[in-house]
Amino acid sequence: MKEAALRRAEAARPEIGMNAPAGPACGRAIRKDFPILKRRVHGRRLVYLDNAATTQKPKAVLDALTRYYETTNAHVHRGLFALSEEATERYEGVRRRVAEFVGGVDPRGVVFTRNATEGLNLVASAWGRKNLKPGDEVLLTEMEHHSNLVPWIVAARETGAALKYVPVLDDGTLDMAALPRLLTNRTRVAAVTLASNVLGTVNPVAEITEEAHKRGAVVVVDGVQAVPHFPVDVKALGCDFFAFSAHKMLGPTGVGVLCAKPDLLERMEPYQTGGGMIREVHPDHATWAEIPWRFEAGTPNIADVAAFEAALDYLDALGMANVLARERELTRYALERLRELGFLKLFGPEGVENRLGVLSMHDEKIHPHDLGTVLDRYGVAIRAGHHCAQPLMRRLGVVATARASLYVYNDRDDVDMLVEALKGARKYFGHPVS
Ligand code: ALA
Repeated sequence: MKEAALRRAEAARPEIGMNAPAGPACGRAIRKDFPILKRRVHGRRLVYLDNAATTQKPKAVLDALTRYYETTNAHVHRGLFALSEEATERYEGVRRRVAEFVGGVDPRGVVFTRNATEGLNLVASAWGRKNLKPGDEVLLTEMEHHSNLVPWIVAARETGAALKYVPVLDDGTLDMAALPRLLTNRTRVAAVTLASNVLGTVNPVAEITEEAHKRGAVVVVDGVQAVPHFPVDVKALGCDFFAFSAHKMLGPTGVGVLCAKPDLLERMEPYQTGGGMIREVHPDHATWAEIPWRFEAGTPNIADVAAFEAALDYLDALGMANVLARERELTRYALERLRELGFLKLFGPEGVENRLGVLSMHDEKIHPHDLGTVLDRYGVAIRAGHHCAQPLMRRLGVVATARASLYVYNDRDDVDMLVEALKGARKYFGHPVS
C-alpha cells in the first residue's frame, strides 16, 4: 500500500486509540447518568449488552429533548418568528456539529435521515438506480448488514448490474487478497461496512476506497457500528458516501446521518419530494433546493436532532479515543472469560486490535433464542438471531448467533454476569459447564 494510503488507513482504523491515555471514567462510574440502568429485570440488575442494536440514553439527552419541546419547538426553515429562527439555528447548528464529529466534513454534504438504513437507501436509489446499467458491477462484502445489501440487490435487479462479494475469511476479516480480482473496470460501486455488527471486525476501508477509486467506482460506507466506538475521520477514509445513526451512539431514535461528497450530491436527483426540498413549483414542473435540503423532504425530526447534540457533547466529554481504549480493554477481558468457558464457539477476529466489543457466540447445544431467553432471566439483555446479516450467517455455518455487544457504561461486572448466565443456561438445559 502506498505511503499516503497507509497514513489514511491508520487515521481511519482504531489503532488510533491503542495508546490513548486513560481519560474520564467509563463503565460503572457513569452508569448513574443513564436512568434506565437503575431498573431491575426479573428481580435482577439490568445488564444491558445489546448496544449494537441500540444504546441507552444519558439523562442529558432526555433533558435536551424535553427542553427543546418546552422552550424552542417550532418548524424549521419556514417561520419568520423567534421560535422558528431559534429552531432553525439549532437544527443547522447540529448539522455543523455532526460534520465536525466525523472529522470535519463539509456540512453541505450532511443529510439528516431517519436512520443509517435510510441514508444507504438514498444512495442506492438516487445514485445507484440512476447511474448503474447492464454490465456494471457492485462490489459488496459477505459481512454486510441487510441495510447495505438489500438496497443494492434492488438497484442491481432494476438496472441489470451484477453483484460481487468480498469473501470473509475464517478469522472474521475480509479476504483483501481477493480485492484486485474482484475490482474491475466495470465496478461502479463498492459498498462496505466499516465495522461488522456480527463479528466486530473493523475493515480496511481506506485501502478499499483507494483501490475502488482507481477503477472509477463510487464508495459507500456503512459506518453505523463504527462512529459510536472510535474516532472516525470520513475525509481520511476517502469514501464518497458514509452513513450512521444517532441511536447507536447515545442519541435518540429516528435520526440518521448521510455524509456525502457535495459535488456528488449536487448531481443527484431528490430521493423523496414534497415540502422543504424545492426551489420553485409550477403546475407541470419543479426545481430543487440547494443541497443538503434537497434531500430532506417534509418536516424533519427536529427535536431528536436537537437532542442528538447532547449525545455528541457526552461522547466528546468522554473522548472518543478514550471510549475506544476502554472498550478494547473490556473486550479483551470478555474474550478471555468467554474463551475460558470452553463450550462456546466465538466468531470474529481473535485479537482486539481491529475489532470492537461485538461478541457473537454459538453454543451448539442451545439454540441462540433459548440462550437469549434464559439470559434475560438473569437480567442480561443480548440479541439472538441472524442480526440482519443472513449471507454472513450462511458463511459462518449457523442460522443465528447469540450476540453481546458492549458500550461505554459496561464494565467487568456486566461481563461476569454474562458468563454466570451462560453457565446457568447450560445447567438449565442439563448440559455440562466445562
Ligand atoms: N443493526 C442493528 C443490529 O445489528 C439493529 O442489531
